[in-house]
Amino acid sequence: MDGLINSRITTQNKRSEDRPIEKSLRPLRMEEYIGQDKIKNQLRIFIDAAKARNESLDHVLFYGPPGLGKTTLASIIAHEMDVQLKITSGPAIERPGDLAAILTTLEEGDVLFIDEIHRLNRVVEEVLYPAMEDHAIDIVVGKGPSSRSIRLDLNNFTLVGATTRAGLLSSPLRDRFGMICKLDFYSPEELEIIVTRSADILDVEIDVKGAGQIARRSRGTPRIANRLLKRVRDYAQVVHQGAITSGIAGKALELMEVDSMGLDHVDIRLLHTILLDFAGGPVGLDTLAASIGEDSSTIEDVVEPYLLQIGLLQRTPRGRIVTAKGKKYFGEVLDSDLISMLE
Ligand code: ADE
Repeated sequence: MDGLINSRITTQNKRSEDRPIEKSLRPLRMEEYIGQDKIKNQLRIFIDAAKARNESLDHVLFYGPPGLGKTTLASIIAHEMDVQLKITSGPAIERPGDLAAILTTLEEGDVLFIDEIHRLNRVVEEVLYPAMEDHAIDIVVGKGPSSRSIRLDLNNFTLVGATTRAGLLSSPLRDRFGMICKLDFYSPEELEIIVTRSADILDVEIDVKGAGQIARRSRGTPRIANRLLKRVRDYAQVVHQGAITSGIAGKALELMEVDSMGLDHVDIRLLHTILLDFAGGPVGLDTLAASIGEDSSTIEDVVEPYLLQIGLLQRTPRGRIVTAKGKKYFGEVLDSDLISMLE
């Protein structure tokens, strides 16, 4: 089911096509990073204080929808602290031994980034507690009555955890982070600066209105903005052989079936289902998920956050409802050719 969501050009989840560009576009220093001002200010103080004391940085947890820059912030932390960054993810660490193998190779002060940290299993999580707290791991040697536990000291390190939902983290794990930061969607103005910066790095000519057009349709998400930029660049190169203007960007995005607010067929289908099959709601998440054939957690973590943010959808104790703004918007887009997206 994830496959359908990820096939969207507007998915916040990482697609294989993002890998080469994300790396080249990723800012290395805090000053280059656009948006998330509150987090940047907090991190700046946190980093400067740790450096002044000659200590490693305390553990940091980032949470929020995918594509907003959690990995980028982890790499900035490592760069600013002048240490190495190791990247892994919750599902990749299956057994305590996998985690022990990573932890024992960390050098003094290194940053270990664990993406999707809420998906670590309990046994692995238990190994992480003493590692985070005392920089040590307990390894059981032998089996049965003769088995014993030996403590292995680790170098100081900083764990940077990332999750789409902090609520899914166990509280003992959550409590062990010194700083917990929530990433918000970016404003169209911030995305416009990001698109312009990326176009500059990719050596693509774009005017202010063209960047604005891409920014407005990127669901508040830099990963989507950079992906759309790349696609629009291809269109401009093949069809227009020139700079990206508002008109060119608009035409290219229409072709990709991304509407003026960045909604695509999955969003439209979700709103359409609530409006037509459930009289505008309220409808429970699981019922809705079954109706549109998607996974509940994907709807909750990936599709809904942006619809909630722009005020088209509301979560109520009795279920999801389409807001008055959502109905109005839907009425307007139905007049255009978006109906074809449902097919
Ligand atoms: N590229 C992706 N996210 C970015 C950000 N927040 N600032 C600058 N460039 C970016």
